[in-house]
Amino acid sequence: EVSWKLADHPKLPKGKTVAVVVLDGWGEANPDKYNCIHTAKTPTMDSLKEAAPEKWRLVRAHGTAVGLPTEDDMGNSEVGHNALGAGRIYAQGAKLVDLALASGKIYDGDGFKYIQDCFEKGTLHLIGLLSDGGVHSRLDQLQLLLQGANEHGARRIRVHVLTDGRDVIDGTSVGFAETLENDLSKLREKGIDALIASGGGRMYVTMDRYENDWEVVKRGWDAQILGEAPNKFRNAVEALKKLREAPKANDQYLPPFVIVDESGKAVGPILDGDAVVTLNFRADRMVMLAKALEYENFDKFDRVRFPKIRYAGMLQYDGELKLPSHYLVSPPEIERTSGEYLVHNGIRTFACSETVKFGHVTFFWNGNRSGFFDPAMEEYVEIPSDVGITFNVQPKMKALEIGEKARDAILSCKFDQVRVNIPNGDMVGHTGDIEATVVACEAADQAVKMILDAIEQVGGIYLVTADHGNAEDMVKRNKSGQPLLDKNGNIQILTSHTLQPVPIAIGGPGLAPGVRFRIDVPNGGLANVAATFINLHGFEAPSDYETTLIEVVDN
Ligand code: 3PG
Ligand code: CO
Repeated sequence: EVSWKLADHPKLPKGKTVAVVVLDGWGEANPDKYNCIHTAKTPTMDSLKEAAPEKWRLVRAHGTAVGLPTEDDMGNSEVGHNALGAGRIYAQGAKLVDLALASGKIYDGDGFKYIQDCFEKGTLHLIGLLSDGGVHSRLDQLQLLLQGANEHGARRIRVHVLTDGRDVIDGTSVGFAETLENDLSKLREKGIDALIASGGGRMYVTMDRYENDWEVVKRGWDAQILGEAPNKFRNAVEALKKLREAPKANDQYLPPFVIVDESGKAVGPILDGDAVVTLNFRADRMVMLAKALEYENFDKFDRVRFPKIRYAGMLQYDGELKLPSHYLVSPPEIERTSGEYLVHNGIRTFACSETVKFGHVTFFWNGNRSGFFDPAMEEYVEIPSDVGITFNVQPKMKALEIGEKARDAILSCKFDQVRVNIPNGDMVGHTGDIEATVVACEAADQAVKMILDAIEQVGGIYLVTADHGNAEDMVKRNKSGQPLLDKNGNIQILTSHTLQPVPIAIGGPGLAPGVRFRIDVPNGGLANVAATFINLHGFEAPSDYETTLIEVVDN
């Protein structure tokens, strides 16, 4: 039985409105021309920095600090928001899958046994992101699973690949496909009928999130399940090379294609009696496909054919919806998140972002759980994102609308915590468009200002931080930090996140005198933030939370 009552903080008052602002993809790095945050005019964020070290500092947002396997793993929004909301570090999907594959336990689990039943008569289909980005999936995990599935009886395997270019450098799709082809050909030598069956760019095919654009999932459905796509090729490497020749082609947005045999027939549509595994361990961009594969009743697009398959996710993606119902590896059990504690202690919560990041401050924040803890205590507002564009075209995105909603929520005095995610640095950073990313950062800074102004008016407190780096470094660098050039002497644009730490700032008229960052938590990371804002609400954090970043000194 969980005891939800939080102890009163001995020194900090209750009743202050606390704004919790998460700038997505906003890290701290050396100021140079590839640092868009540095280039951008960001007077608000700059002014917060002046309060260092008492009220501004850096926290770790990558690697083991957020539950990822190694210190070479860049941060990402899932693990970042999980850590921010849950106040503890959980071994995350990437790591859990590594362990399950290494120990072989993945093959003993109910999820694998469930799909294994199809191996004798049906085909095993693997659908997922093909790269070594480590954010949603990893190539080496796919390789191990192919091997293991074969050892456990799979005789016919089809892989449906989604090309990346977002968590890895654009253009790397071809190399990953070559590696996969090589593995599949080795399986074929052993008499296994193993082929790539379809493909497409992750942002255009399948991997939409938060129901922003179902067309994306439909394009994938048509290729993967129905075996239909506008582009047909005999071989995936050839397909990628060809599709990349189009002007402005980009791994993230490659059109869907299917692989066909000599008679022009798709080699791997998904049929009755087949087994399907979605390879991604990360939830947000697999939930929509999982719904399409699993739900008998479904009205988001015309599936044309709904095959009777056995479907398992690499993980269970949504703990509340229990989606999918079968999975190969159990997800981290993120429980007793800050949001749940706060509603039990009378804290009324408002959360807002635009669609593409809405689930970050709700679903991820609450431990990969959709819905409310207590609808009477919480209000979540989603501002619809622009659909069908890349965000370098609209780099301001909905930052000011998010700022306005947060401002109104603060001024209404109906909420104790007003929480937002401001997506610009990240979403525009992922396009690799440096000029647009500068504009994006300026818009994000303006949104922060709107929120801080409102906090000023109501005598509240702000906590401004970020989930991981992105916009502060837009170039791939060598070990000594020099920009890397490609064959033609151009810099290699870094569309992905980074390993950089992120800022955290506190302040506002409601912040009690004497509150400052402790100096004895030098390695503090995102998981320390929850205890910090719980304190700002006037409570002690639960004892097993990572320690608070603040202390109150007597003046
Ligand atoms: C994405 O899904 O857009 C990227 O792979 C990771 O970005 P995010 O972690 O900031 O959402
Ligand atoms: Co991102």
